[in-house]
Amino acid sequence: MERIPETELMVEKEQVISYDEADFSEGEVNLINQINYYLLRKNISLDEKDLIVDLGCGPGNVSEKLAIKWPNTEVVGIDGSKEMILRAEYNKSISTNQKKLKNLRYVCSDIKDIKSNNLLLKKRISLLVSNSLIHHITNLEDFFNTIRSLSSDITVNFHKDLKRPLDEKSALELKAQCSKKYNEILTKDYYASLKASYTFKELKNFTLENDLSSLDVFEEGDNYLIVYGNV
Ligand SMILES: C[S@@+](CC[C@H](N)C(=O)[O-])C[C@H]1O[C@@H](n2cnc3c(N)ncnc32)[C@H](O)[C@@H]1O
Repeated sequence: MERIPETELMVEKEQVISYDEADFSEGEVNLINQINYYLLRKNISLDEKDLIVDLGCGPGNVSEKLAIKWPNTEVVGIDGSKEMILRAEYNKSISTNQKKLKNLRYVCSDIKDIKSNNLLLKKRISLLVSNSLIHHITNLEDFFNTIRSLSSDITVNFHKDLKRPLDEKSALELKAQCSKKYNEILTKDYYASLKASYTFKELKNFTLENDLSSLDVFEEGDNYLIVYGNV
């Protein structure tokens, strides 16, 4: 299936509310466990000296889980949509885990401007994460240029996203499954996201052709891709 890009930022209020109200916690917990397992295997422990950045953090679901899992680190969630950042701040303010989120802050910036905005960061990034971001990015080189510019030799990258279905029929089946669980706006967004997603081959080839072969690309089941490793 040919890729059809979608708008990068999620700025519409209704879209933000629908996304925020959906429960994606199972996938988010899996992601945190996968990162934890990877760090353990690499013998890396995160503490006061470490900075975790969550790119395209949306309403902050993954950022919050990162902040709770690694309470001694500093966690920064970044999103280019003001509406999403407002939602993330609001979610943090009403969280029952509020006391455990003191190490978490949010920044509103397009990922392509992070360096130039100079909003970060007195520390080097130890863990650079994103979930469901890559498919929003129109040109893959914008995503990889960002992670390359934010990474140093200590940075572990872990980026999970949807995988583009093989054909329209499979995309429609996934859309139908989604509609049983979520509202119309979210189902429409999910379908657009499936079509905007990249394939394993596109991500893998990009890393190989752009001197990024220290990053690995992994297919998780039929529907997800993970880009991980050092840049
Ligand atoms: C599908 S949501 C995922 C949110 C969150 N990571 C999660 O797992 O729940 C994608 C988010 O990426 C943000 N985004 C897309 N393109 C971006 C860009 N170029 N710079 C910053 N944020 C971006 C959108 O605004 C949106 O909030």
